Amino acid sequence: MTTINDVARRAGVSAATVSRVMNDTKPVSPELRQRVLRVMDEMDYRPNLLAGSLRRRVTHTIGLIVPDTTNPFFGELAKSVEDVGFQNGYNVILCNSDYNLERERSYIMVLKAKQVDGLIFIPGSSRTDHVSDLLESWQGSVVTADRLTPELKADSVVANNRAGGRMAALHLLGLGHRYIGCIERPEHLAHIEDRLTGFREILRQGSVEVPKELCVRGGFRLEDGVRAGRALLTLPDRPTAIFAYNDIMAIGALQAAKELHVRVPDDLAIVGFDDIPMASYLTPALTTIRLPKYRIGALAAEILLGRVRGEIEGPQHHEVLEVELIVRGSSDPSFAPKYADY
Ligand code: RIB
Repeated sequence: MTTINDVARRAGVSAATVSRVMNDTKPVSPELRQRVLRVMDEMDYRPNLLAGSLRRRVTHTIGLIVPDTTNPFFGELAKSVEDVGFQNGYNVILCNSDYNLERERSYIMVLKAKQVDGLIFIPGSSRTDHVSDLLESWQGSVVTADRLTPELKADSVVANNRAGGRMAALHLLGLGHRYIGCIERPEHLAHIEDRLTGFREILRQGSVEVPKELCVRGGFRLEDGVRAGRALLTLPDRPTAIFAYNDIMAIGALQAAKELHVRVPDDLAIVGFDDIPMASYLTPALTTIRLPKYRIGALAAEILLGRVRGEIEGPQHHEVLEVELIVRGSSDPSFAPKYADY
């Protein structure tokens, strides 16, 4: 039977180092960790980690709650959390709350019962009172990602949404648009509100207002974007541009434009938010604000593991990552394929 000493000998490290890698009791460099894990695998060394972790109450698992697994934005973010977890010997339990508060509460209870070492939480609403009691007594750590939850005492990693809204407005004003429609958030979500606030700020500086009738409520699904797009494009006086609160809504609006024979970008410019992978594969490709999705998740995971291992201590970290305007054919004719190309 293979023992810890056999693994240590083959990996050229001490048994204590192998134990650190297995139990995550002290920091070990990523290269050393990989080497030890590889040798454990080669030698088929399978210690009873559960028994050990039960004694120390460490499970090497972290929870990740996202509001919507159908939105590719959260797919990329989840991948980055999983990548960082994997590199550090942690498994990730992914839960999809579906923007449902009851489900959020129930998942937090489940994750606590499973004694995960920490949680990355992306709340589905700006409300957190339904989970604050559970999170307050959390034994590990909690990091909120993508959106701020000031009432929770948690580290956070978010994007500069307001700056993104400003960039979108500057872009559309620069292209000469003055009569612009918006597809808004479906319900109150502060980070999305920030996008619209930034957008309106810049429009106002150009003496442009978004009239009430040009602001329609979106949803979370593609069909909500189609519905919102139709509503805007069938107005007697339709807008020359649409700013959508995310790419899913923008793609829906693009589809509505196709149905109604409104040419994009000649008759209508569309700008989204997120830069999900499919945005660059559409015809025309979607102009959007690129959120650093991968970095948001990776940094959230790094902070969480830092807390869990005691490498990060002290006051909460609040990281704000910058966004970028990506101009493509849905707004700018010089980037769009000619209709003759179809
Ligand atoms: O609520 C969904 C949106 O929030 C995503 O599309 C992304 O923009 C995130 O910030």
